[in-house]
Amino acid sequence: MTEIQAPGPAKSKKKPDPCAFVIFGVTGDLAHRLVIAALYNLQAADLLPEKFCVVGIARKDMTGAELRDDLMKGLKQYATRPVDDAIAQKLLNCVTCIEADPGEPESFDRMREQLDKLEEARGTGGNRLFYLATPPSAFAPIARQLGRTGMLKENGSWRRLVVEKPFGTDLASAKALNNELLGLMNEQQIYRIDHYLGKETVQNILVLRFANGMFEPIWNRNHIDHVQITVDEKLGVGHRGSFYDATGALRDMVPNHLFQLLSLVAMEPPARFEANAVRSEKADVLAAITTQTEEEALKNSVRAQYVTGHVSDDDIGDYLKTKDVKEGSTTETYAAMKLSIDNWRWAGVPFYLRTGKALGIKRTEVAIKFKQAPFAMFRDMSVESLAENFLVIAVEPNEGISLKFNTKVPGPAVEIDGVEMKFRYKDYFQAAPATGYETLIYDCMIGDNILFQRADSVEAGWRAVQPFLDAWKKAGKDGLKTYNAGSEGPEEANDLLKRDGRSWRVLS
Ligand code: BG6
Repeated sequence: MTEIQAPGPAKSKKKPDPCAFVIFGVTGDLAHRLVIAALYNLQAADLLPEKFCVVGIARKDMTGAELRDDLMKGLKQYATRPVDDAIAQKLLNCVTCIEADPGEPESFDRMREQLDKLEEARGTGGNRLFYLATPPSAFAPIARQLGRTGMLKENGSWRRLVVEKPFGTDLASAKALNNELLGLMNEQQIYRIDHYLGKETVQNILVLRFANGMFEPIWNRNHIDHVQITVDEKLGVGHRGSFYDATGALRDMVPNHLFQLLSLVAMEPPARFEANAVRSEKADVLAAITTQTEEEALKNSVRAQYVTGHVSDDDIGDYLKTKDVKEGSTTETYAAMKLSIDNWRWAGVPFYLRTGKALGIKRTEVAIKFKQAPFAMFRDMSVESLAENFLVIAVEPNEGISLKFNTKVPGPAVEIDGVEMKFRYKDYFQAAPATGYETLIYDCMIGDNILFQRADSVEAGWRAVQPFLDAWKKAGKDGLKTYNAGSEGPEEANDLLKRDGRSWRVLS
């Protein structure tokens, strides 16, 4: 079996410090689907601490044995590779269960005592990682109880808190949550996860830009015409009607996942590959996104809902008929927008973003369109008829990088055609299938925040999308478009680029 690649370029495969990995929401989907499956992969790669325990915090009365059975079932269902019983048992032997509920503060006092005893027995030395795999409404109440009982204090041992997106639902709620958490612990202790940063190709954007000498000199307004960021999904809203209808495509994807891609592509080179240096550059570029007026936001965006259609062989019904979606809901399942970045490097370079559900193909990519050749040197070939020079960073489904350029068609006449030079990860590297959470969890345990969002980035992201949220809310049904499930999205998304004389990259 191939080992997973060492997480992060500058790290040796050192084992994390002894610690207790405390999971709130251990019986939920996230813990089963991703956290335990990732811990299993880390165990398989021998990257868990020697002295380690996993403590599941459950509300209901659940024994350790029941939790272990439950996790084993989850592992069998969601593991990214065949489960080796010996490895699974080694991990599950570390698992225990404690009952605690933020609605019952005294349960946290009991939990503290139980954790102290457990750590004494396991020799984990007081280092604790609290992983909140819970609905967001529980983040602050749990953190408050951890703070009240002194469990976030670092006295010679470390205490870390991991929170998942959504981190707030708008600028005001994100700020409130940041303030609350930062009143209980310091920024270094908080690990805000965006799972896009666990994806290899996403991390590779930094390596592509800064470990090669040839891209950076042309990575600016002098050579780049515009940037397209696409996250198209085939999945519809399915069983997530209640969550999704209150959220929509913009909140669900843009200030987090799409902005991670944007910030890595657009940031200035950090002085060092170190958490604060990298995160400061990312926050700076997000803060430089032009704040649009609501009127501009309406002009520079498209929002739409899917109606019935087919995705692959599946019949998909209207979004409005999805279970738990409110009657007459105006929540968008597709969002596209044009943004600009007010800084020296990017002035005048539009960034076009789009994301949607129930589309015909799954595709996550960043496409960088370079300026056309300035002069039509070849007889009978206008500059416009040349293929567009796109550098494409493909995140899914086929991870890789490709470059489209013009070449001469063999033969006596000077004919020109566009060709593609392709690098695919799978052709070069053999990595065991992973959840994407391995790197993130490992980094939490070794105390490296580089791949986690800092409070200022989160707020800068919400600040940039807030005018769109406000304008769309006020507009309600006005301007809400539709598209058929299985299509490429609403026609109006094409118009957003067409009016600038541009078009979305067509898959070749
Ligand atoms: C999640 C969103 O954060 O990301 C989902 O809540 C979305 O709606 C998912 O489907 C997309 O992740 P990925 O890794 O499949 O692109």
